[in-house]
Amino acid sequence: MKAFVYDRFGTPEVLDLRDIESPALADDGVLVRVHASSVNPLDWHMLTGTPYLARAQAGLRKPRHGVLGTDFAGTVEAVGKDVTHFGIGDDVYGARNGAFGDYVSVRKSIAQKPSNLTFEEAAAVPVAGVTALQALRDKGKVTPGQTVLVNGASGGVGTFTVQLAKALGANVTGVCSTPHVETVRALGADEVLDYTRDDFATAGKRYDLIVDIAGNRSWAELKRVLSARGTLVIVGGPKTNRWVGPLGDAVGRRLVAIPDRRTVAAPFIAAIKGPDLVALKELIEAGKVTPVVERRYDFADVPDALRRLGKGHLEGKLVIDVAGGEA
Ligand SMILES: NC(=O)c1ccc[n+]([C@@H]2O[C@H](COP(=O)([O-])OP(=O)(O)OC[C@H]3O[C@@H](n4cnc5c(N)ncnc54)[C@H](OP(=O)(O)O)[C@@H]3O)[C@@H](O)[C@H]2O)c1
Repeated sequence: MKAFVYDRFGTPEVLDLRDIESPALADDGVLVRVHASSVNPLDWHMLTGTPYLARAQAGLRKPRHGVLGTDFAGTVEAVGKDVTHFGIGDDVYGARNGAFGDYVSVRKSIAQKPSNLTFEEAAAVPVAGVTALQALRDKGKVTPGQTVLVNGASGGVGTFTVQLAKALGANVTGVCSTPHVETVRALGADEVLDYTRDDFATAGKRYDLIVDIAGNRSWAELKRVLSARGTLVIVGGPKTNRWVGPLGDAVGRRLVAIPDRRTVAAPFIAAIKGPDLVALKELIEAGKVTPVVERRYDFADVPDALRRLGKGHLEGKLVIDVAGGEA
């Protein structure tokens, strides 16, 4: 199969499109022909080996997985002998190391594809959508009628967070920059704050839940707008710390919040699980959530997609047409 392989950590230039062996099929897994993928900050961490904490998963001295990529949407081409929930020909989506390749071998992080999405749209969902779902439902424990502030509402995770918070019955305020204000409003946000003009930290409104995706505000600023029994969920943060990345900042903010007796959820890394992909599929098919795609790239242009990701300020997701329009 063709795949984007890398033998050392580095910038997108270290990626090489090569012919390699297809992954083996496990007895309890399925082999998926990948039609589409998308890029996530996670792929950037795996590519560059930074922050160094990421090397626990990416590999200590050199890349452990060889093939880059995580999100996929495709068709089941073979099933292991113990598999009962999937059959050959099923259209599926999920997350697995090696998704920038023709095939992935998957066990758990997979579900049937939302029937109303193309493969490219479906590939935009897994990592960003499940992160948003777990931030709101599991960490934030959002309930209908609560006020939710999404700081960083227009990117991959943010566009799902706004829509999911609305679907879960919240009153949502999204924070983003000028070019994305109309998109965030169209996703259903009740209020949109343009951070180049309005500062939510001094606006005087309080929120029951803050989902901090941009991670650029101090605890002192956030606690001013968090209601007395409110919760802060930290999803992302500054990439300035080469050792632990956003995690250092997130842990720091949790520690300084202790004397204030407010709930700051433990920093988390989303685990992509089948049941959460099924929950998202149902919300997508019900018309409550739609992936936002800034741009599609040909498979050969994966390095360009990663460079665009590295520049930041995306509107939604960047998707990759892995199968070259075959599907
Ligand atoms: N914990 C987890 O499991 C998990 C999973 C996925 C991602 N993440 C992390 O979450 C973060 C975001 O991921 P993503 O895929 O959504 O990235 P992204 O697509 O680049 O989105 C970043 C968002 O931050 C906003 N932003 C940038 N500067 C801002 C500012 N000064 N004030 C307010 N918002 C600002 C951007 O808005 P504008 O473009 O309008 O500036 C955009 O909405 C990354 O740090 C990533 O590593 C964590």
